[in-house]
Amino acid sequence: MRDTAATSAQPAMIVMSIWCSSLSLSSRSLAIALVICVTLVYFSYSFNACLLASISRSLQQSNLRNLLALTSSPRNETNNATNSSGSSSSRNSSSTTGAPPAQTVTSSLDGAPKYQLLRQQGLRPSRHLPDTLIIGVKKSGTRALLEFIRLHPDVRAAGSEVHFFDRHYQRGLRWYRHHMPYTIEGQITMEKTPSYFVTKEVPQRVYHMNPATKLLIVVRDPVTRAISDYTQAASKKADMKRFEQLAFVNGSYSVVDTNWGPVKIGVYARYLERWLLYFPLSQLLFISGERLIMDPAYEIGRVQDFLGLKRVVTEKHFYFNATKGFPCLFKSEARSTPHCLGKTKGRNHPHIDPGAIERLREFYRPFNNKFYQLTGINFAWP
Ligand code: A3P
Repeated sequence: MRDTAATSAQPAMIVMSIWCSSLSLSSRSLAIALVICVTLVYFSYSFNACLLASISRSLQQSNLRNLLALTSSPRNETNNATNSSGSSSSRNSSSTTGAPPAQTVTSSLDGAPKYQLLRQQGLRPSRHLPDTLIIGVKKSGTRALLEFIRLHPDVRAAGSEVHFFDRHYQRGLRWYRHHMPYTIEGQITMEKTPSYFVTKEVPQRVYHMNPATKLLIVVRDPVTRAISDYTQAASKKADMKRFEQLAFVNGSYSVVDTNWGPVKIGVYARYLERWLLYFPLSQLLFISGERLIMDPAYEIGRVQDFLGLKRVVTEKHFYFNATKGFPCLFKSEARSTPHCLGKTKGRNHPHIDPGAIERLREFYRPFNNKFYQLTGINFAWP
């Protein structure tokens, strides 16, 4: 800027000196004084303009630093507020145990158009530990729930099951957070790993990450769930024994094999009791797997309310696909892209002897009643 000022002053000075040479001595000294005055005024103006520009530049830099500090500060700064309110504004309060700070988008992603657009609006996407977990129950409709709720623009979910709390806990929260999607302020981070519900250590570990974590649990009639679980296992193993042989001890229907995974997982009350040692019932939402198929919009409405979200996902997003025999979804209200869950969801089940089914129903009845009592919901399983 100073160079420009000097360059633009040169022609004016040349004109002045030609004019001066044509004047008498006294008028000449007057003119020289005038030229000096004009030059001084001009340079002082340029200097001030420079000074103002540099002050404004440093102010901008300091604002940017403040913004960065805000977006990348650990959410546990707000942990106290989180614990007391548990509202959606409390999302991501990371840990009572020193969770790592949120990670903002790195420069390698800065060039991506979607992040550029966000940045232009003053938003900096970053990864956060989950606010909400779908903890189970396996084969009850957990994938359907995740696919349905993530239609909401304020929900971002990890694509695959991360298994942090059951298999990878030793890798630490920084590792876990790295598996989370980028979110912007106001968006919920979600993860689903159905084995969390039945793994002994998980409730305490989730509590240590963030006691305000919201927990979603899809449940289904434990007998159908066990058959679904078996069907999945049998699809991977050609010489699998029949369901009836595995579900009972000694081949008769008198003793149920409670050590067999597909049967064991259906004793929901036992696992729920462990979760209730760490989380109040108000932080858990139970979703009926049966109703998720019959009336997905209703169940998703409940989920959105529970998460403090506007009801954006509605019946307009669903249609019943007669070929699949299950609800499928439209990715937008405009009903543009229809999408059904993959082939591994909604499999045909093998025929099971009705006697075996009846015996299993009898076995589960007291545990189901206990579960209804704990949750305050009668799921009316047969
Ligand atoms: P089946 O394949 O035995 O019918 P998960 O995702 O927890 O593994 O649960 C799988 C179950 O989700 C399926 O079990 C199916 O019954 C149920 N489900 C619920 N809604 C569905 C949908 N819209 N499409 C496909 N399966 C759905």
